[in-house]
Amino acid sequence: MEWRFILDDIQATAKSFWQAAAGVRVFAFHGALGAGKTTFIHALCEEKKVKDVISSPTFSLINEYLFSEDGVEKKIYHIDLYRLKDEEEARLAGVEDCLYSDHICLVEWPEKSPGLFPDDTLHVSIETVGNQTRLVRIREN
Ligand SMILES: Nc1ncnc2c1ncn2[C@@H]1O[C@H](COP(=O)(O)OP(=O)(O)OP(=O)(O)O)[C@@H](O)[C@H]1O
Ligand SMILES: [Mg+2]
Repeated sequence: MEWRFILDDIQATAKSFWQAAAGVRVFAFHGALGAGKTTFIHALCEEKKVKDVISSPTFSLINEYLFSEDGVEKKIYHIDLYRLKDEEEARLAGVEDCLYSDHICLVEWPEKSPGLFPDDTLHVSIETVGNQTRLVRIREN
């Protein structure tokens, strides 16, 4: 499954992405520097109508976003592993606690710590296609 979009269409793409990925909890976003991972993750959070952003005090590599769905309070973890030195640091920061929680996790730079991810992680790639277009693709592996 894949989507090509410009910024003007990012919300519609985010909506379609959530529909395609129904039931998935952990998402690993692969893509080069500046490919658009954070921008797309923010659009995904926007689509869930998140309320608060709570940054983790320790390493600020984990952000929590709260939203409600079907009258239930839920949480999204947005995790950026870019500055991570090793898996030990990920563990200390509580990344595994998030990845093995009941909550949705949207993770940038998963290749920094591939061993931490649950088997049923959905791997997604984001690429630049020309100046303004991005290609988001769900990997079939
Ligand atoms: N269609 C698009 N989708 C997403 N971003 C786009 C698009 N077109 C242009 N951009 C721009 O590309 C940049 C993407 O930056 P962003 O921080 O999202 O990338 P990133 O993959 O998270 O980078 P990093 O690896 O540094 O975390 C932003 O400046 C954004 O405005
Ligand atoms: Mg980013």
